Amino acid sequence: MGELVSSTTGPQIEVTVDTAEDLPEAMADPNQIEMAILNLSVNARDAMPDGGKLHISAKARTAQSTHRSGLAPGTYVCISVADTGIGMDETTLAHAVEPFFSTKGVGQGTGLGLSMVHGLASQLGGALTITSAVGSGTNVELWLPVSHAATGPSDAVPQPKLRPLAAGTALLVDDEPLVRMSTAEMLGELGYSVVEAGSAEDALQRVSEGLRPTLLITDHLMPGMNGTDLGLALRKQYPELQVLVVSGYANNEGITPDLSRLTKPFRSDELAASLANLAKVGR
Ligand SMILES: Nc1ncnc2c1ncn2[C@@H]1O[C@H](COP(=O)(O)OP(=O)(O)OP(=O)(O)O)[C@@H](O)[C@H]1O
Ligand SMILES: [Mg+2]
Repeated sequence: MGELVSSTTGPQIEVTVDTAEDLPEAMADPNQIEMAILNLSVNARDAMPDGGKLHISAKARTAQSTHRSGLAPGTYVCISVADTGIGMDETTLAHAVEPFFSTKGVGQGTGLGLSMVHGLASQLGGALTITSAVGSGTNVELWLPVSHAATGPSDAVPQPKLRPLAAGTALLVDDEPLVRMSTAEMLGELGYSVVEAGSAEDALQRVSEGLRPTLLITDHLMPGMNGTDLGLALRKQYPELQVLVVSGYANNEGITPDLSRLTKPFRSDELAASLANLAKVGR
């Protein structure tokens, strides 16, 4: 939509668009999303009578339980429309999404723009958030929940992604709930059923209860037993188990070359490549 927005906002406003390549999918009516983005862009234009910058981006973001708009924890596609305009004072910010609230004067604005976008977001199980201050511009974010609907063969666009040869059950161990959540999301997209554990001890417990994962993917540095020791212990019991140890650059103390390793942070395609490689070498 970059072109369309640019031609709507005029030559005084520099429009940039930034969308991540490996965005997950969100379920929404494309026309409604287009209308929402256009509405937000017009608001941004109106806030920059002397020109400025308009930045539109789409990113995968994770909401925690503490998210200010009360979003359910999970992964979202976050569409942001940010301007360098006049911003909003507190009163305007507090009422901006109310229907018919407008500061634009009679005949200028109906005050329905933000209210409609807000309604759309709620209807889709997402949210609209506004960050703004007088003189420092405005950032309006539209959060859309990532869709877990299976994509049928009818819309099976060939994906240039690397896929593991055979996905099975992944036992995912990380003491950081947010990191775990995003890795779980990636594994799910790669076709794994994911069992999550918050510590090595927890993971061992799962296995002693009868869980037989095809893959162990574990953070290295955790309170209690570390990921490498966990991997080696389980590998000893189950020689076929694929093990991938995840660690930051700095935290590699105690990691053994006997186990495959992936450096944090990683993207979905990097994870897929590591897993494909594990599957190829047999474990
Ligand atoms: N990007 C922005 N920068 C500064 N203020 C904004 C911005 N977007 C919205 N506002 C404020 O919020 C108010 C409500 O916005 P909304 O889009 O709902 O209505 P409107 O733009 O006034 O009218 P219309 O929807 O008909 O265009 C605006 O009148 C303005 O005061
Ligand atoms: Mg508007």
